[in-house]
Amino acid sequence: MSDKATLQYKDKTIELDAIIGSEGEIGLDITSLRAKTGMITLDPGYGNTGSCTSEISFINGEKGILRHRGYAIEELAAKSSFMETAFLVLYGHLPSEKELSEFIAEINSESTLHYGMKSHFEGFPDNAPPMAVLSSMLNILTCYNTDLLTTATEGPAFTAPTAKIISKVRAIAAWAYRTSIGKPFMPPRPDLSYTGNFLHMMFSETFNLYEPLPEVERALDLFFILHADHEQNCSTSTVRMVGSSHASLFSAVSAGVGALWGPLHGGANCEVIKMLTRIHDEGISPRDFVEKAKDKNSPEKLMGFGHRVYKSFDPRAKILKGQVDVVLKALKIEDPLLDIAYELEEMARSEDYFIERNLYPNVDFYSGILLRAIGIPVDMFTVLFAIGRMPGWISNWREMHVQSLRISRPRQIYTGETLRDYVEMANR
Ligand code: ACO
Repeated sequence: MSDKATLQYKDKTIELDAIIGSEGEIGLDITSLRAKTGMITLDPGYGNTGSCTSEISFINGEKGILRHRGYAIEELAAKSSFMETAFLVLYGHLPSEKELSEFIAEINSESTLHYGMKSHFEGFPDNAPPMAVLSSMLNILTCYNTDLLTTATEGPAFTAPTAKIISKVRAIAAWAYRTSIGKPFMPPRPDLSYTGNFLHMMFSETFNLYEPLPEVERALDLFFILHADHEQNCSTSTVRMVGSSHASLFSAVSAGVGALWGPLHGGANCEVIKMLTRIHDEGISPRDFVEKAKDKNSPEKLMGFGHRVYKSFDPRAKILKGQVDVVLKALKIEDPLLDIAYELEEMARSEDYFIERNLYPNVDFYSGILLRAIGIPVDMFTVLFAIGRMPGWISNWREMHVQSLRISRPRQIYTGETLRDYVEMANR
């Protein structure tokens, strides 16, 4: 369905198509604006700009709704597995039993890393940030798969790099962790679930296999489901941007890891735990901290609060908050950071500053407490976010190529010097 809008500037008038999405969202199509008027739109931070039409995920930030391919995140969280949700995000429908077992079998067949990659891990310094290692190693996969540097969206030329990335990202994460603590790599166990195999590669020892509590394995699988996709956020847009030059899928997701790393995006899950630990260890009162977060002259922010799109509760945060209780109870852990988090949330939700700005806890506020209880080191938190997000990145990369989109190339309004004469060195 489409409609028209009219844009007028001085003596120039242009009719724009209104593209109406299946949930009633309206986008004014400005693709012919520059050609017809010589003007562009300006939207730093892209808060008002749609970069594509997409059938993958739907968010209504005002109502706190997230759906993948039409399925509510709450229902997927309650009934699905990460592998099933990954298939759904990638291919648009819930898999049959046969489709799911073939998908899992292809992913399992890619569980190991090429032995040559060992030397790359050993080349990193001891304190190498795991997100830098992950991004580098995903790009290094390119070197071992030069036959897969295509933009194919169907058949083995697409499923092979997809399975490699979704499977090997987990092995890269586990290898990076084990290298950082001076332990040997643990060979994968394809008999385990996707998440069980990851926990095994992280925590098993040769003569002492790690056997997670079912609540722990389920909670981590749920964490991956909740991160599977989130429409055109900073890292997904980066994957699309890089992919739009027809760079390989490996390079595109490697760039996505770089974008995700920042503390304003996926890196916030580490920052939340660092903030809570600081409040706890330095005996800062949550009240003082909230006051600092409100003060524009203070560098403090309430990490894990606020979102560009959600102007009410992030539905993923609600689900994770519930899981934290389940996991802490199963592991018989009492985490003082959780009490601080509850207190901060309660305070923030009754303060005008946060209410007026619609600042609610986002997915990162409770996820760190969950991962910490499972034994994941803080600097690996964002790596786990990246593992969960792979299906979404790959699906967006695929959709962009299915739609044959043009290379992403925003314009700018130049505000620098106009033409001036070069001044010889002696006269400066
Ligand atoms: N603590 C205190 N004040 C905040 C916070 C916060 N966490 N977040 C936003 N604000 C304030 C801003 O200072 C601004 O106030 P002003 O209107 O008086 O200037 C107002 O709320 C609007 O915030 P913006 O920064 O304009 O919102 P934007 O959409 O650009 O940024 C972001 C969103 C980056 C998530 C921001 O809320 C933030 O930095 N949050 C903390 C980091 C975080 O948790 N990131 C994870 C997001 S979820 C994800 O990416 C997986």
